[in-house]
Amino acid sequence: MSANDRRPVGSPQSQTYDSAFLKACRREPVPHTPVWFMRQAGRSLPEYLKVREGIPMLESCMRPELVTEITLQPVRRHGVDAAIFFSDIVVPLKAIGIDLDIKPGVGPVIAEPIRTRADLARLRDLTPDDVAYVTEAIGMLTRELGSTPLIGFAGAPFTLASYLVEGGPSRNHEHTKALMYGDPQLWADLLDRLAEITGAFLKVQIEAGASAVQLFDSWVGAIAPADYTRSVMPASAKVFDAVASYGVPRIHFGVGTGELLGLMGEAGADVVGVDWRVPMDEAARRVGPGKALQGNLDPAVLFSTPDAVMAKTDEVLAAAAGLEGHIFNLGHGVLPTTDPDALTRLTEYVHTRTAARQG
Ligand code: CP3
Repeated sequence: MSANDRRPVGSPQSQTYDSAFLKACRREPVPHTPVWFMRQAGRSLPEYLKVREGIPMLESCMRPELVTEITLQPVRRHGVDAAIFFSDIVVPLKAIGIDLDIKPGVGPVIAEPIRTRADLARLRDLTPDDVAYVTEAIGMLTRELGSTPLIGFAGAPFTLASYLVEGGPSRNHEHTKALMYGDPQLWADLLDRLAEITGAFLKVQIEAGASAVQLFDSWVGAIAPADYTRSVMPASAKVFDAVASYGVPRIHFGVGTGELLGLMGEAGADVVGVDWRVPMDEAARRVGPGKALQGNLDPAVLFSTPDAVMAKTDEVLAAAAGLEGHIFNLGHGVLPTTDPDALTRLTEYVHTRTAARQG
């Protein structure tokens, strides 16, 4: 394939257009409910642990062949309906020169937190050249994946700001909220900077061949609706606007966001991700018409018996039966000690159960 006849992502001519995953995102009829899992690539898979041996997390994100292999592992093993690009939400920040690391068992740690107006200058624009390894990896991946869609992703401005302001993972987000309430203009400028960077990072992934994108606002559940509307939504909306013209589905996910589901839809997503705390039919009421939903089996359920997993899965599928579009997923990422066979069985179970329903 030459560079000129690259498949047009988002258009009906693209190789992935008729996949169950993209159909469900577009709220079209599907042959079966599509399935993928957040964090499907990673420590639950022995083949992942093997190829990652001795290679730090951030370095592994910069090696296109390794990224391709790790991204494909869960697709091969579980037969999921979509791949998610192996990377991390802090990769674009690292790419623009922020001194940070991902510490095993901890998460992203920032050497010098961002808390003042002078600190903002460290957040320069991201260009495609900063992440050439992402473009290269996605090119390799989409060739290997054929008709299986690749989901690109980024961290949403609030969640990225939380890591940058706190300096690392945080339970209460106290420095973040101190800035948000204490200096609203600096906060708005910080989120706007992050929206620019995030929008540019998602564009790179779509231009390289990603068929959909997910914006992870993992920690935004810590924010009340009025504050979300005032202090978070404008930046998230700016990210969705930045990639609207590509026509690829945009997914928006956060944890503990039951009170925010409607607002997260309004920010501009085509698909709203739901954690396990709100049943899918209630989530659909909160989000309103015109959006597909993604979710929402509690990842901890996978530690239970196969019968219990099936029963809880049936509950999710029953609650989702009347939805305009449903993508089956967990309510948050796969836990590292999950038995991978439980994920393979779950994928097959959802496919079989929902194919029967269509017939
Ligand atoms: O399969 C996939 O979903 C794609 C890979 C992916 C990773 N990080 C790989 C990773 C994705 C989508 C992310 C996004 C991410 N990173 C989020 C949003 C998703 C969510 O879980 O809410 C967040 C909040 C981060 C920040 C982050 N990076 C955390 C909290 C951790 C875990 C720290 C730990 O060790 O427990 C990371 C590291 C990380 N990112 C790992 C993986 C596979 C583990 C590192 C390893 O395997 O050594």
